[in-house]
Amino acid sequence: MPSRAPILITGGAGYIGSHTYVALLEAGFLPVILDNFSRCKPGVLTRLQAITGQPVVCYGGNVSDVVLVQELLRQHKFGAVIHMAGFKSVGESVAHPLSYVENNIGGMTALLRAMETSSCRTLVFSSSATVYGDPPAAPITEDFPRSHTNPYGMTKLACEDLLSAMRAAAPAWRIGVLRYFNPVGAHASGLIGEDPTGTPNNLMPFVAQVAAGQRAYLSVHGVDYDTPDGTGVRDYIHVQDLAQAHVAAVKALLEGEESFTVNVGTGQGHSVLEVTKAFERASGQAIPYRLAPRRPGDVAQYCADCGLAQKLLGWRAKHSLADMCADTWRWQRDNPNGYDA
Ligand code: UFG
Repeated sequence: MPSRAPILITGGAGYIGSHTYVALLEAGFLPVILDNFSRCKPGVLTRLQAITGQPVVCYGGNVSDVVLVQELLRQHKFGAVIHMAGFKSVGESVAHPLSYVENNIGGMTALLRAMETSSCRTLVFSSSATVYGDPPAAPITEDFPRSHTNPYGMTKLACEDLLSAMRAAAPAWRIGVLRYFNPVGAHASGLIGEDPTGTPNNLMPFVAQVAAGQRAYLSVHGVDYDTPDGTGVRDYIHVQDLAQAHVAAVKALLEGEESFTVNVGTGQGHSVLEVTKAFERASGQAIPYRLAPRRPGDVAQYCADCGLAQKLLGWRAKHSLADMCADTWRWQRDNPNGYDA
């Protein structure tokens, strides 16, 4: 498969999708976006054009629209599909489990149905460290037991299992499952980044809004965990490194690598207080915080063993926590309201 292969990114206008779009184009691929813009804004497209200097090929529509996806597969003859069109909020999944099943499992099922009618059997799937449930130790290797503690996690587990069943039924499938740890940061241009709707659920965008003066203080959820400073530890990974992991995964599959499931993190854990201090240094702003009770369902520590991704894909994360904070801050400072439209 030539490096100019067209690649479909479902959910490609979102936070991770938009960074992956740029990385694929820079690596010589021809990325095409399919997005229904339910969780992101079309304004990202003009930013992508500004970064790449090229018109963006984007289709507005649902991945669950089998006829539409079949038509795109026929028209573009994709070398691979990267499936990112999924909902990702744990709290929302608890409140609306059916939406999560419909969107995440239904979307995956429809995509596989459409791909079955085409010649494309190469797929990269956005999974999550959430499939490790409450892990017994750290660092986490891919053979750790899997479980779920909320409907979001259940949908990721179900999709992973469905993909295993597809491979067992038809060995022509080549599937790369990427288990993301905690993606943060933004493109170095400051033109694209995470644009959460309403109050951010995740730590980094919340901290960024406190630094910008948009929120008064950070609530530190849990100070009595069994971690060095008592606050939750996570393996934060720069979204640019994550984007490169997708490029490496697509390349490996197109070059004939067998199907794989790999962790995508840095292998380094950072506590909530460490992130807060690093963000203060990067932004030059004070970040007031208050100690608060644990968030229901949170675990003490998530940290990846990333040896398998390095071995199979030749990929490893390069950006430090300081880079993640500096790039998040540039995005926040230059785009206080995210994308305008
Ligand atoms: N935290 C706070 N205050 C906040 C927000 C978060 O103290 O306002 C703490 C959390 O308690 C946790 C840490 O910051 O200790 C990280 O929380 P995030 O919400 O940023 O990330 P999570 O690890 O909870 O969840 C994220 C994704 C999930 C994914 C998981 C896998 O949101 O979808 O990473 O590691 F499953």
